[in-house]
Amino acid sequence: MKRFFSFLCISWAAFSTVMADDYLISTSRTSLLLSGNRGEKLLFQYYGGRIGSGQEVYNSETGMNLPVYPEFGIDCVDEPAIQVTHADGNMSLDLLLDRVEKSSGEDSDTWTFVLYDSVYPFGVNLCYRAYRASDVIETWAEISHQEKKPVTLFRFASGYIPVRYGEHWLSHLSGDWARESWLSEERLLPGMKVIKNKDGVRNAQMANPSFMLSIGGRPEENTGTVLGGTLAWSGNYALKFDIDYSRHTRILAGINEEASQYTLMPKERFVTPELAFTYSTEGKGGVSRNFHRWARSHKLAHGAQLRDILLNSWEGVYFDVNQPVMERMMQDFAALGGELFVMDDGWFGEKYPRSNSVGLGDWVVCKERLPDGIASLVRSAGANGLKFGIWIEPEMADDKSELFEKHPDWVIGQKTRTLKKGRGDAQVVLDLSNPKVQDFVFGVVDGLMTENPDIAYIKWDANMTLVNYGSNYLPADRQSHLYIDYHRGLLDVLRRIQQKYPDLQMQACASGGGRANYGLLPYFTEFWVSDNTDALQRIYMQWGISHFFPANAMASHVSAGRNHQTGRATPIKFRFDVAMSGRLGMEMQPKDMTEEEAAFARKAIAVYKEIRPVVQQGDLYRLFSPYDGKGFASLMYVAPDKGEGVFFAYKLEHFYGQPVPRFRLAGLDAGKRYRLEEINQTETRLPQHGKTVSGRYLMEEGIDIPMDAEYASMVIRLTAEE
Ligand code: DGJ
Repeated sequence: MKRFFSFLCISWAAFSTVMADDYLISTSRTSLLLSGNRGEKLLFQYYGGRIGSGQEVYNSETGMNLPVYPEFGIDCVDEPAIQVTHADGNMSLDLLLDRVEKSSGEDSDTWTFVLYDSVYPFGVNLCYRAYRASDVIETWAEISHQEKKPVTLFRFASGYIPVRYGEHWLSHLSGDWARESWLSEERLLPGMKVIKNKDGVRNAQMANPSFMLSIGGRPEENTGTVLGGTLAWSGNYALKFDIDYSRHTRILAGINEEASQYTLMPKERFVTPELAFTYSTEGKGGVSRNFHRWARSHKLAHGAQLRDILLNSWEGVYFDVNQPVMERMMQDFAALGGELFVMDDGWFGEKYPRSNSVGLGDWVVCKERLPDGIASLVRSAGANGLKFGIWIEPEMADDKSELFEKHPDWVIGQKTRTLKKGRGDAQVVLDLSNPKVQDFVFGVVDGLMTENPDIAYIKWDANMTLVNYGSNYLPADRQSHLYIDYHRGLLDVLRRIQQKYPDLQMQACASGGGRANYGLLPYFTEFWVSDNTDALQRIYMQWGISHFFPANAMASHVSAGRNHQTGRATPIKFRFDVAMSGRLGMEMQPKDMTEEEAAFARKAIAVYKEIRPVVQQGDLYRLFSPYDGKGFASLMYVAPDKGEGVFFAYKLEHFYGQPVPRFRLAGLDAGKRYRLEEINQTETRLPQHGKTVSGRYLMEEGIDIPMDAEYASMVIRLTAEE
């Protein structure tokens, strides 16, 4: 169908009701077009590059004159976004457009399409918030009814995006503990591809709720049309890519509805999490940069702030936390130029001093290990010129803990069965659907902060799957709400913490990278990418993560010379060069470093402070993918004004006579000249070190860099000449 549209030009007040045939939702470089008359279906027409009023959309890559939020029950052939059973047993919906509301904020416009059923007093508000500058649109649904009795929701997608025929490639992240966020790219063929999670607690460990769809061929970094999406939810999810025989792809994303049917009371409002999506003709890199900009401005706590360089005690001492050891670590880290010290697991438990299998839940200091308490450590940190942070895992308990002894009913489980336990054959999950448990979890942070208002950072861990499905709090007919209510409870707690302690920095950790998601990031300043700190393997994981998450959210630590997870020994430079491409930190015992290593670390920390604004707030350009089998990886960050850049290159394989590719840079201003400076080295190897080269040359011709040694790496700072 050839389609033209007209758009009623209305000058919007802060909030207004709109009636028009076509609704054009635009950001600075993209547009989403919906159409529909009052009393008719609202249809999805177009999503892609920005269009103007009256422009032909016949050739658009997305959009197929399809219902914008497909319902089950009348036309039942395709995957529905929503499926319900009404109180009378009827299983159908027929949603029609009633009205449209638009409100405008400083950075975004929010559109609400009010849909109602043609027969039942049942409605869906379908919402779109378009962030003008970052080109990201969030969509979500608000479901409610005024039927006499409850309605059961069986499907409740956050969003639906149809994409026209084409050779569609899916890029997504999958993995497991210590190998999270591995990038997979595959061509979609007829059938349904589902990316899903059913862990209940950590939704990014095995697969991430994010995707990119390259439209029209293999994914490329800096060219090609790509649509990206990420679900802002920390619980179970499903991203469905339903491809029909003619290769149209219908994307449905939302909470994983399995075992989660929801009883919706009259007048209650069920709000789905947001699906954020974006579109770029600058390849996957363009989509990443859009998500990064959106995250830093709107979806990551303190997103515009630079992050501290921290030392976390875990790999340095594991559970062997005690006062002299902590004091010494702080002194040594301060001498390296560090900014924040974080005491990890092992500091708590009175009746059951913490070990791998006891004490979790008892958030009182272990006097044997820390006789002078936390306050004295916070003071020592201050005396060393460091901020202080602390580890907690407040959603969990061990069966040997005072908490469990006092409140066995706070734990997720079934009265009729014995508990299956996690870590140390001891760990259980607290039932966050229970408001008393929510108060307890809030109280863990509140207690620490009240006693030690100078705590600057909390590492919030979560090391267990939601097993023993069952709530002692939810009534028998609401048991299927647990997966959802757990995360609603968690979000309520996080909101309370943020309100009371707005300056507190928090890290989302979940057995490593189990919580890299935009459901939680509005409350966290960063996430732990993985418990695997091996620099070589980190290149692959951080590459994957960078598709959706900005560098200042990506905690990236230098660990021991022989890595504890893989046993691989790598030079200190390689380890720093990898960690410095994210939020730099350390995860080791500094006193075990050689003098040369300490000297290198001191210099690296100092230089990271200089390049930090570009790495943490700049635009990312991925150059050579580690996944391409070339034996090298490289990436760079460029300041928004293109005045500065930082380039990283790593050698991944080592063979005699291995050809080294030419490294073509990206994202620079072709018309500017940049001074190149090799940093983070003991001996300069870059032939162009100290020279000035034009942006055009660097991007078109590139540079040769010596990469002979095993684990060779290079960091180059680029500064535009005035
Ligand atoms: C799992 C985390 O991922 C680690 O970094 C560490 O904090 C341990 N838990 C502590 O138990």
